[in-house]
Amino acid sequence: MNRFVLITPDSQFDQLVRSAVTGLQGDVRSFLTSTVPADARQLLDSLSDAPEVIILGPGIAVDEALRLATIFDVQCPEISLILAGEYDPDFVVQAMRAGVRDVLDPTADVAQIRFVLDRACQAYSARRRNQQTASAPPQDKGLVIGVFSPKGGVGKTTVATNIAVGLGKIAPMDVVIVDLDLQFGDVASALCLDPEHTVLDAVSISASQDTLVLKAFLTVHPAGFYALCAPTDPSEADHVTPAQVARLLDQLAGEFRYVIVDSAPGLPELGLTALESCTDAVWVSGMDVPSVRGLRSGLDVLKRLDILPETRHVVLNMGDPKAGLSIRDIEASIGAPVDVSIPRSRSVAFSTNRGIPVLQQAKADRTIKGFQRLVQRFDPQWRAQPARKAHRRVVLR
Ligand SMILES: Nc1ncnc2c1ncn2[C@@H]1O[C@H](COP(=O)(O)OP(=O)(O)O)[C@@H](O)[C@H]1O
Ligand SMILES: [Mg+2]
Repeated sequence: MNRFVLITPDSQFDQLVRSAVTGLQGDVRSFLTSTVPADARQLLDSLSDAPEVIILGPGIAVDEALRLATIFDVQCPEISLILAGEYDPDFVVQAMRAGVRDVLDPTADVAQIRFVLDRACQAYSARRRNQQTASAPPQDKGLVIGVFSPKGGVGKTTVATNIAVGLGKIAPMDVVIVDLDLQFGDVASALCLDPEHTVLDAVSISASQDTLVLKAFLTVHPAGFYALCAPTDPSEADHVTPAQVARLLDQLAGEFRYVIVDSAPGLPELGLTALESCTDAVWVSGMDVPSVRGLRSGLDVLKRLDILPETRHVVLNMGDPKAGLSIRDIEASIGAPVDVSIPRSRSVAFSTNRGIPVLQQAKADRTIKGFQRLVQRFDPQWRAQPARKAHRRVVLR
């Protein structure tokens, strides 16, 4: 079976590829010419089986190579097309955009060529699988849980990161947290992560077109979930558009059971876009009058704009019986019941500074129980109960 097709006038390179393929399953079919076929059909008609990998070796004109890559990207996107040559990084980006899946240094040795070919075969299999699932009936999408509040410093990041840890226990590696506080996001710090890639990479053209590329940009957290952190340079946030955020959340919801979104304070444009993609909104309020009033006005605006997600969870954070406000006062001001109350606790402040969310700890104090009650609200069994039970009154202790 010809898993590999090589087009090149360079017989020495042909020998190298042949040696590399002996370590892999399948054979190579070589065309010792510098002329590339007019389109995918012309090439495939000359073969008995469709190949998994096509290598365009030395001696092929670059514009012809890119033309063929573009055609294959449209006609047979599952086939991995590899270009062998010495190119500068700008050209490599251009080649990838055209549909080239990998670039091979022509001075590579047999082992290196074999490695690249093996990776190309794996990419082929993954894309085949994706095609098969794409042609199957659409699967249920995951929950997109956004954590919002008009005011800053009320505990959004604390709540979002603890939800991620809690859901990571229910659905290991089926959870991703996205930091959409693009300018001053601190999910990375709250989770003690030093990410190699950020939201900026995740909204790039290559990631938005290929979910496998997107997944390669996620950072794994040891508690069993993925994180997509904010860019380290606040000025880079300006480059991200609402359409890119909507696409990103849609892709992630197609891959993960739970997508958790931490947001910037207020109702910025990207926050509103995220809200429109959310199945669940977690509204966080502190136990102070400005925070409660802010939440009330925010919810009023969103009701008028008609962009309130289907399921609402109101979290009263930093609950304190001595704060001079009762739960009933707060509910009357917000115009909605408080679903979960999380006490003010030194352990939370401590956990932020250490970068270890409290739900990662073993002991169960009132703070941890509060977060657990919130996490439980995303458990399918809990959600199956009648709606009247969904907003039970909480007691402040
Ligand atoms: N329940 C709590 N008890 C004590 N401190 C808290 C609590 N929740 C949050 N904090 C602290 O408040 C600060 C702001 O929290 P953060 O989650 O970053 O808010 P936001 O994301 O809304 O700006 C952090 O230092 C955090 O440790
Ligand atoms: Mg925050």
